[in-house]
Amino acid sequence: MTIKIGLVGAGFIGLLHARNLSASPLFELTVVAEPNEATANRVAQETGARVVADWTELVDDPLLDAVLLASPAELHADQVVAFADAGKHILCEKPLALNLEDADRAVAAAQEAGVLLQVDFNRRLDPHHAVLRTAVEEGRVGAPTIVNIISRDPGLPGPDYRRGPGKMFMDTTIHDFDMARFLAGSEITEVSALSAATIDELAREADDADTTVVALRFANGALGIIDNSRQARYGYDQRAEVLGTEGMATCGNVQDTVTAVATASGFASPALPTFFPERYAESFRLAVERFAASIVDGAPLPSDGRDGRAAIAVALAAETSRRERRVVSL
Ligand SMILES: NC(=O)c1ccc[n+]([C@@H]2O[C@H](COP(=O)([O-])OP(=O)(O)OC[C@H]3O[C@@H](n4cnc5c(N)ncnc54)[C@H](O)[C@@H]3O)[C@@H](O)[C@H]2O)c1
Repeated sequence: MTIKIGLVGAGFIGLLHARNLSASPLFELTVVAEPNEATANRVAQETGARVVADWTELVDDPLLDAVLLASPAELHADQVVAFADAGKHILCEKPLALNLEDADRAVAAAQEAGVLLQVDFNRRLDPHHAVLRTAVEEGRVGAPTIVNIISRDPGLPGPDYRRGPGKMFMDTTIHDFDMARFLAGSEITEVSALSAATIDELAREADDADTTVVALRFANGALGIIDNSRQARYGYDQRAEVLGTEGMATCGNVQDTVTAVATASGFASPALPTFFPERYAESFRLAVERFAASIVDGAPLPSDGRDGRAAIAVALAAETSRRERRVVSL
């Protein structure tokens, strides 16, 4: 069975998904909704899909089995509800919504309609992270005591990137909140967040952040630390570690080669991946593949609407914590 899918939004991540969907024998990308003409033309040229400007045209399209939402976050909840009501399976980019009321609306709509709602927390599907999670799941490190995540972007987003209070937590750290839940195998119950805007003047002006450190407590008793920066001069730095009562599982940076060149001035290693499309390329491919497996075979989703909602709750708690300078319970 080939799944007929529509794409909503063909910007940065939408184009990446469009390429993966077009390359996959599991899907037929039939239509793309994208209001920006130049962006729409580009995706049409690359994929051969029909393009329309208005996403509501896809809602009652009888040919579509599923949609992938890669539109701006503020549209996700309404779009999930509309497509769920129309009986389409949905793969929604993170965040599922920007507040809990909208997240609940989206989750309830999918549940009531009996359609699949996958939220794209693609980092879970990274093959290296999957090994880390399996080690914890199999009890090889014992009971988790500390989850440590370092996630640093290579450089500041461009001036077009919309900044605002809580944006770094909701847009960027939200991946790490999900990874923390995933790696600990437990819900986050307490959050204490610090943030700073020392590098990015636009973030400072918008009461946003470019640097954050978040401490977590999990229901299973473990603690966690997330360290985020918008600027690591040496590349896209992605590391994760779980310390447990019997040992430690750690996932370092993934590089093109493990060859290093040594001279009198020291060891030179290859550069880190440029950014997330390179580092997590395989995970994005697997995200659509797992979505297909759920539609066709009823396989479990890698991350669903409840995961989407849980990460939003932590992001909102982190924003309250940094603003009010206190520990926030969930
Ligand atoms: N999983 C990941 O690693 C990852 C990475 C990047 C972005 N994202 C998420 O994907 C979403 C999109 O981010 P982006 O970086 O691609 O943004 P973007 O601005 O590059 O793309 C958004 C696109 O949506 C289009 N759009 C605007 N209004 C629309 C409408 N009413 N209907 C259809 N399309 C509309 C815009 O024209 C634009 O082309 C965000 O929620 C973001 O958080 C996820």
